[in-house]
Amino acid sequence: AKESLMKAVKDYIRTIPDFPHEGIMFRDVTTLFGDPRGLRLAVDQMLHPYAGRRIDKVVGLEARGFILGGAIAHQLGLGFVPVRKKGKLPAATIGERYTLEYGEAEVEIHDDAIQPGESVLLVDDLLATGGTAEAGIKLIERLGGQIASCAFLVDLPELGGRKKLEGMGMEVFTLCEFE
Ligand code: PRP
Ligand code: ADE
Repeated sequence: AKESLMKAVKDYIRTIPDFPHEGIMFRDVTTLFGDPRGLRLAVDQMLHPYAGRRIDKVVGLEARGFILGGAIAHQLGLGFVPVRKKGKLPAATIGERYTLEYGEAEVEIHDDAIQPGESVLLVDDLLATGGTAEAGIKLIERLGGQIASCAFLVDLPELGGRKKLEGMGMEVFTLCEFE
């Protein structure tokens, strides 16, 4: 059942070779988002582990984490908090720099978006090196939040993100994997 679910999810995801750079196999989830069954399957399966758990807020990582995180927050009856690329959030922020599979960046969160002690579900579309998620985790923890779990649609296990996050003591759920 787990294998057929994983295959069903993977079948909605398109692969674009050499984007945004030569040698990168880009896993394009817009084809899943654009299909009503694909989007529902992904959102339903991503929130499945959290039924009955105490979670106060969903934090989504720009940009594709907003789509999944928004839908998951709505379905769980929770509020949604964006972690955005530097310079986009209008009020007072804190920031974290990080490295990507293909570059370097900085993300920010509003400094009043999480209250100390709140239990947070972190959501993004894809886990590669884990650098983006690690930056999000650091921002949440700096505001006193506790990460209940981290949920991703896609894992790229060869890039080590899951190992990095689990090594930080995080619980990690992913729906499917690509090599
Ligand atoms: C992609 C993806 C994750 C991140 C994963 O986003 O959506 O957020 O990379 O990579 P990592 O695990 O190595 O950090 P991207 O940086 O392409 O930004 P975008 O969603 O704003 O296009
Ligand atoms: N983010 C980092 N690596 C990626 C990949 N291979 N496909 C899609 N998004 C990514």
